[in-house]
Amino acid sequence: MSELEKPDLSKFLNSLDLTTMRKRHLDMVLDIEHRAYQNPWSRTVFESELSQGITRSYIVALNGRVVVGYCGVLYVVDEAHITNIAVDPNWHRMHIGTRLLSDMVRRAWNRRIGAITLEVRVSNFNAQRLYQKFGFQPAGVRKGYYQESNEDALIMWAYDVDSPEYHERLLNIEAQAGIVVESLRRRRHIWS
Ligand SMILES: CC(C)(COP(=O)(O)OP(=O)(O)OC[C@H]1O[C@@H](n2cnc3c(N)ncnc32)[C@H](O)[C@@H]1OP(=O)(O)O)[C@@H](O)C(=O)NCCC(=O)NCCS
Repeated sequence: MSELEKPDLSKFLNSLDLTTMRKRHLDMVLDIEHRAYQNPWSRTVFESELSQGITRSYIVALNGRVVVGYCGVLYVVDEAHITNIAVDPNWHRMHIGTRLLSDMVRRAWNRRIGAITLEVRVSNFNAQRLYQKFGFQPAGVRKGYYQESNEDALIMWAYDVDSPEYHERLLNIEAQAGIVVESLRRRRHIWS
């Protein structure tokens, strides 16, 4: 795939359809999952997550009918836990991860969520950069969390995501990535 110029990249990014993950997406999700992770989730894990109702939000980014990325969140009272985020390696660095995460933050706003957490491999600097942009800060380490490699997990938290300051931060992130917020608002599923 050729490198897209910035206006084209923005057009592409805004043309993606972010919608609820369904069983029919799982073949494509699993294909990305296996290329993204050393220890990928199985179909059974995804199916179990999708069956958990309103305690979870799982979304896919569709380029036409093709899944190019996905993200999942578990809600616990007034906190959200990002359980998974991955983008097809062929589509990295095109702000799809940013769009997925911004969508998840907006969903958190709808649920009056004040804080979001996640675990990330201590060696996964690319993902950590993405999270730092969104205001996630390291808050501790889970020793040997990734059992297949005995690697530690960095625990990260973003607090006060429902504050006006965080709203401003998200608008800046979206503007820098070329995400047109007005076009997102018109898509009702983004806010559900
Ligand atoms: C992490 C991941 C989801 C990012 O997706 P993406 O669509 O490529 O991310 P974006 O294009 O939105 O990048 C956002 C920011 O993250 C950082 N980043 C992401 N990938 C990077 C890379 N390869 N090198 C350096 N910085 C990177 C940059 O700060 C980037 O902003 P910039 O492009 O304006 O500099 C993707 O790399 C991925 O699927 N990785 C494998 C699965 C994974 O590790 N998931 C996280 C588990 S905790």
